[in-house]
Amino acid sequence: MQILDGLLVSKATKDELRLKVAQLVTEGKKIPHLAAVLVGTNGASETYVAAKVKACQEIGYKSTLIRLEDDISENKLLSIIEDLNLDPDIDGILVQLPLPKHISDEKVINTILPSKDVDGFHPVNVGRMVQGLDTFIPATPYGIMLMLEHYRINTKGMQAVVIGRSNIVGRPMSILLSQSGNPGNCTVTITHSHTKNLPELCRNADIIVAALGIPEFVKGDMVKDGAIVIDVGITRVPDATKKSGFALKGDVEFATVAPKCSFITPVPGGVGPMTIAALMKNTFKACVNNN
Ligand code: GUN
Repeated sequence: MQILDGLLVSKATKDELRLKVAQLVTEGKKIPHLAAVLVGTNGASETYVAAKVKACQEIGYKSTLIRLEDDISENKLLSIIEDLNLDPDIDGILVQLPLPKHISDEKVINTILPSKDVDGFHPVNVGRMVQGLDTFIPATPYGIMLMLEHYRINTKGMQAVVIGRSNIVGRPMSILLSQSGNPGNCTVTITHSHTKNLPELCRNADIIVAALGIPEFVKGDMVKDGAIVIDVGITRVPDATKKSGFALKGDVEFATVAPKCSFITPVPGGVGPMTIAALMKNTFKACVNNN
């Protein structure tokens, strides 16, 4: 069993980007600038956005964090996004999800200019991804593809089971794994809460991507020997022994699953850091495309 080390691969990816930024500086070109919008005070979202801003600083990008009250009106948020769209210094815009209930995710996503949509959530970018065209690929599935590529895992012909059909992870992941290329060329089953025989489907899978958000859902008896298991889940569960008061749990029961795997991602230190690294790659691309 080999651990897929997201911290290591994300560091390598960020090191590459740091060199590319230094090159831009040498050439007197514009350096990437990411605008991150955080609405409200959701603890997990705060952590994720802080990690994104920190990664920008490490690489040498500019970043602007826009913090907004959770009772901000939808119109006000949309007008802030429109201002960011028009600002030539901003290359990438991300609005951290989830948003408060009175704000439509759809309207927010549709307002971000596709050329600055480094999350790859705008329908134009999703459509381009589905067609295999050059685009911004959503950061979590993109990060997983980068990690598989880094470890030179040949996924050709594999049976892949993706658990979860969210627009952020499951659905784009299923599309990417099914596309030609390596990683890719998998036969993909996308599963969800209505799927019958999920344990059986998982037992037949060469690669499982667990992205349903239920801690330790995937158990050892659901995984075949030699499978590759990618754990996207990261749920905060109360834990009095931790200073923070919570522990982070993946969607995979590591203790029973890991011994059966050829490769597995840990939580934390697996997919999470790769998501950030992939977002940084998208931000670099936006800067180069837009300038
Ligand atoms: N919430 C959970 N994952 C993501 C992500 O990749 N991007 C944004 N904007 N919000 C998220």
